[in-house]
Amino acid sequence: MRYKGIIFDLDGVICSTDEYHYQAWKALANEIGASEFSRADNARQRGVSRMESLEVVLEKAPKVYTEAEKQALADHKNKLYQGLLANMSPADLSGEVRQTLDTLRGRGLLLAIGSSSKNAPLILERIGLRNYFDQVADGNQITRSKPHPEVFLLAARLLGLEPRDCLVVEDAEAGIEAGQRGGFDTAGIGPAAECGRAAYELRCFSDLLTIAKSS
Ligand code: BG6
Ligand code: MG
Repeated sequence: MRYKGIIFDLDGVICSTDEYHYQAWKALANEIGASEFSRADNARQRGVSRMESLEVVLEKAPKVYTEAEKQALADHKNKLYQGLLANMSPADLSGEVRQTLDTLRGRGLLLAIGSSSKNAPLILERIGLRNYFDQVADGNQITRSKPHPEVFLLAARLLGLEPRDCLVVEDAEAGIEAGQRGGFDTAGIGPAAECGRAAYELRCFSDLLTIAKSS
């Protein structure tokens, strides 16, 4: 087997919480008069921290905010976002993702999450994967978010594996860069499959079954 472990980003890879991030940021943007905030801006928020994501919204805002005000805006967005997460259930985990994960695990691969999000434990709980992964590395355990490789290096270390033995799966270009900087092979899905930087370009999640097959 080429790989011993797979490290998955969460938002936009395991589940569609990337859309909820967009909706919450868009609502905040409208509230503060940054209504030009667009999906193209949102693409730049993928993989980066909450405060860095806020800066993308504030580029379109009509006023300058203090650090304390920025913190309050980020907290407000997070409340809006968590309101959307509250409606999630195991039905929000697609059968394709669940079956692919189960098959990969059945092949003996170790599976981990490597996410910049501080909401990762909450999301995993909502979609019924709280105790599923062998390890979870998330935004609560790191100081530098993607494109820094810290979260992936932590996930590999927790799995007891070297980066060269792990595949990183990402929807964010910043996540592909993080994987590469950490010495991992990378598979891009969605926007990351189109950025031209991923070693593997997934058309769908179950394409992983071909990449991580016995050899
Ligand atoms: C990443 C998202 O997974 O998590 C980013 O792609 C987000 O857009 C980051 O900013 C932090 O998320 P949270 O849930 O801690 O605000
Ligand atoms: Mg993502």
